[in-house]
Amino acid sequence: MSENNIFTNPYNPGAGSSPKYLAGREKEIEAVSVMFEALKRGISQRSVIYYGLRGVGKTVLLNEFENICDQKAIYYQHIEITDSLRFIPAITTAANRFLRNLSSKEKLKNYINKVLDAIKTLTISFSPGDVTFQITAEEKEMYYSTDYEQTFTELFESLGSIAKEACQSICFFIDEIQYMRKEDISALICALHRVSQKGYPLMLIGAGLPKVFQFIGNARTYAERIFRYEEIDSLTDDEARDAIVVPAEEEGKKYEPAAVDEIIRETGSYPYFIQEFCYQVWNNADGDTITLKDVKGSEKQYIETLDNGFFMVRFERCTDREKNFMYAMVDCGELPCTISNVAKNMQKQVTQISPIRAQLINKGLIYAAKYGEIDFTVPKFDEFLIRKRG
Ligand SMILES: Nc1ncnc2c1ncn2[C@@H]1O[C@H](COP(=O)(O)OP(=O)(O)O)[C@@H](O)[C@H]1O
Ligand SMILES: [Mg+2]
Repeated sequence: MSENNIFTNPYNPGAGSSPKYLAGREKEIEAVSVMFEALKRGISQRSVIYYGLRGVGKTVLLNEFENICDQKAIYYQHIEITDSLRFIPAITTAANRFLRNLSSKEKLKNYINKVLDAIKTLTISFSPGDVTFQITAEEKEMYYSTDYEQTFTELFESLGSIAKEACQSICFFIDEIQYMRKEDISALICALHRVSQKGYPLMLIGAGLPKVFQFIGNARTYAERIFRYEEIDSLTDDEARDAIVVPAEEEGKKYEPAAVDEIIRETGSYPYFIQEFCYQVWNNADGDTITLKDVKGSEKQYIETLDNGFFMVRFERCTDREKNFMYAMVDCGELPCTISNVAKNMQKQVTQISPIRAQLINKGLIYAAKYGEIDFTVPKFDEFLIRKRG
């Protein structure tokens, strides 16, 4: 491997790291561009949630949509849900930023005050640790019995109305939406429902793991009318070929066709795997043409990198019981698998292992696929578990 290869390496493996060349996804980008154009003209749009396995490129796609917002001067805020994220301050900060971006036209004053009131109520009532302004005891008392969903809805409604009045539009991006707390998602759905009834130019684009709509649907029965769900899958062979070849061409290198085929086969055309594999291959290949031999010679290193990183960080977050559950899934021989087969492999009753199933779903490692069967949210995780167990 030459140092120079690392400097010129055009691949970009990593969560949310934008690739040099975004393969495929034209359909999604076109659809969102059209929606944004309508939103910009003040036409209310249905919110969308993109779902798919880890590493298919959901975050990268959100980044792409945010670039379009920049071009079209649509105000946006990116929020990634994590254990430590506090949702209310994230949203109120975004609302405050939006207000600061507005021109201080006299006629907007009332609207601005409404947003500020809603921010204040939400913060004092539901996020008191984040209060940075003075409040009196009476005020505290007054805010004490407010309803979260209602206050949240008031914030969105006031934001939507000022956006409309000021001829602006707003899009919230929420990544890892499956980790949202139940009460937050419920409030968010209520708020979006109201905004769409009013026809305001405010929308949300979310990204999450497969079957995130079950989780959202459980929060609110009318959720399916609020969101459109779009699956993001691995790339087609042609798209995968582009993802492999185009970045190299820009650096003046070619691939032997057999080398490309081998990468497609080994990665199953999952974008993250392609980036990771090609990254290793690039570092190891010295000629102007990347050969099948180069690819084969990098395979071991590629697998080791995945095992020690992408797979391991997820595996390490599990308890021994959860690991045994996942091994028992692998032992079913075919995925998705049924919980009763998992139970049989563990020599337990279904009721005994149901809590483990729930924990693994919460941690985002497995999801309830069709007909109540379960599967891994991480592609090729079963192969990793087999290697791990030895
Ligand atoms: N359409 C694509 N073409 C090429 N590479 C992609 C594409 N989508 C994602 N990637 C690469 O895949 C990796 C994972 O993308 P990411 O958006 O983090 O996935 P997800 O959010 O679905 O887990 C990143 O390294 C990114 O560069
Ligand atoms: Mg992501």
